[in-house]
Amino acid sequence: MKFFIDTANLDQIREANELGILDGVTTNPTLMAKEGVKGEAAIAQHYKTICEMVDGPISAEVLSTTFAEIVEEGKKLAAIHPNIVVKVPMIKDGIKAIKWFTDNGIQTNCTLVFSAGQAILAAKAGATFVSPFIGRIDDSSWDGVQLIEQIVSVYNAQGFMTEVLAASIRNPLHIVRCAEAGADVCTCPLSSILGLLKHPLTDIGLEQFLKDAKSMQ
Ligand code: G3P
Repeated sequence: MKFFIDTANLDQIREANELGILDGVTTNPTLMAKEGVKGEAAIAQHYKTICEMVDGPISAEVLSTTFAEIVEEGKKLAAIHPNIVVKVPMIKDGIKAIKWFTDNGIQTNCTLVFSAGQAILAAKAGATFVSPFIGRIDDSSWDGVQLIEQIVSVYNAQGFMTEVLAASIRNPLHIVRCAEAGADVCTCPLSSILGLLKHPLTDIGLEQFLKDAKSMQ
């Protein structure tokens, strides 16, 4: 399973990248706005900086909702760097645009996916990635990981090539369960990635080893 970081914060991207286990980055308009990035030029520059930091797919989301505008915006985003993946919402014009990008060699990430039916449409349009939002499903008392299992099983049964990118990850257990479910990618906040490190027996064991190591000096 690939690890992406789900942020537009350059310090967090750097910290995750320094671990050596980062395969890519996803952003969305909320995450970009959080960083205070404003205006077309600044947005493009921010994506370029991220692409120069991490050698892997970098999702940049369109802000348009009509076919013609999504295509125009997506072409501009894709021109920023070869690693840019155009992130497109799961709407009717979004599906049309994903098909257009597929036919024109531009990678896409179909976002705001909450059902297997939507995931089938994204795959039929040739999306590179599909992003089911599992945390937001859990927030409404459904099981987000069950959706990952269902999409993985449908894609395997049908031979779809679209990669299942589990998004809206809220904790380390989500990452483990998505790995079990066969997700191709997990995009996580830095806190969830670092949470995977934690185990009290590791800390207790290390403390003892260091104490014993001292007695040998
Ligand atoms: O990037 C999309 C997704 O990961 C958003 O997560 O936490 O806002 O539901 P969240």
